Amino acid sequence: MRKPVIAGNWKLYKTAPEALELVSGLMPLISGRSNVEVVVAPVFTVIDRVRAAIAGSGIFLAAQDCFWEEEGAFTGEVSPKMLADVGCSHVIVGHSERRQFFAESDAAVNKKIRAAVGAGLTVIFCIGETLEERESGNTFNVLSGQVSGGLEGMVPADMEKVIVAYEPVWAIGTGRTASETQAQEAHAFIRSQVSKLFNAEVAQSVRILYGGSVKPENIGGLIAQPDIDGALVGGASLKPDSFAALVNAA
Ligand code: PGA
Repeated sequence: MRKPVIAGNWKLYKTAPEALELVSGLMPLISGRSNVEVVVAPVFTVIDRVRAAIAGSGIFLAAQDCFWEEEGAFTGEVSPKMLADVGCSHVIVGHSERRQFFAESDAAVNKKIRAAVGAGLTVIFCIGETLEERESGNTFNVLSGQVSGGLEGMVPADMEKVIVAYEPVWAIGTGRTASETQAQEAHAFIRSQVSKLFNAEVAQSVRILYGGSVKPENIGGLIAQPDIDGALVGGASLKPDSFAALVNAA
């Protein structure tokens, strides 16, 4: 039985007062939902404030990225150890915006995942094809490369700390969601790749989230798919009502 996950990726939004307003509006709307793993991923600068605000609520705290070294002369970076120190239990790695705008390769994503898992964090490992890749019939090639590249060198036990997020790039922030069939097909494929890389047991237990224009109106059909175990949500995670509706639908 895979526990559903609803994770809010706040991206580059929310100052401290705005972040606190969001979580204080959210908490009463989702209290008692212990059958869903609820995660919020604020910007680094408000993580500590959000941690204090959500203490005792059962909501998990994530960062949106991390570096792979624990410490050193790496100006501007934040390490998994530091994220754990400030109360993060989760970290998003390999988001398509990181890959697209900051040139993150599968090799860099792999180093980050291994470092984060090594520091005891749960990784939300993002993959997904671009529109061009889909239209040229390369979706499965791209996904299999991202899965094997991102998880290289890991052993089955490490996978207890990995959640995969399938986010077709063409569906992110565009209002254009993958159809339930497209999403299910990709999720089943990703699960088969995890089985090949590790084993069937790991594949059956790994949570695979869908991301890309998830909204209260489309979550029901997506989460009803057998291989979709929750959602990674951008836009709809920025308001208490819409995020709570997603949590309550999961
Ligand atoms: P979106 O973003 O829900 O705004 O499409 C999803 C994501 O990038 O994780």
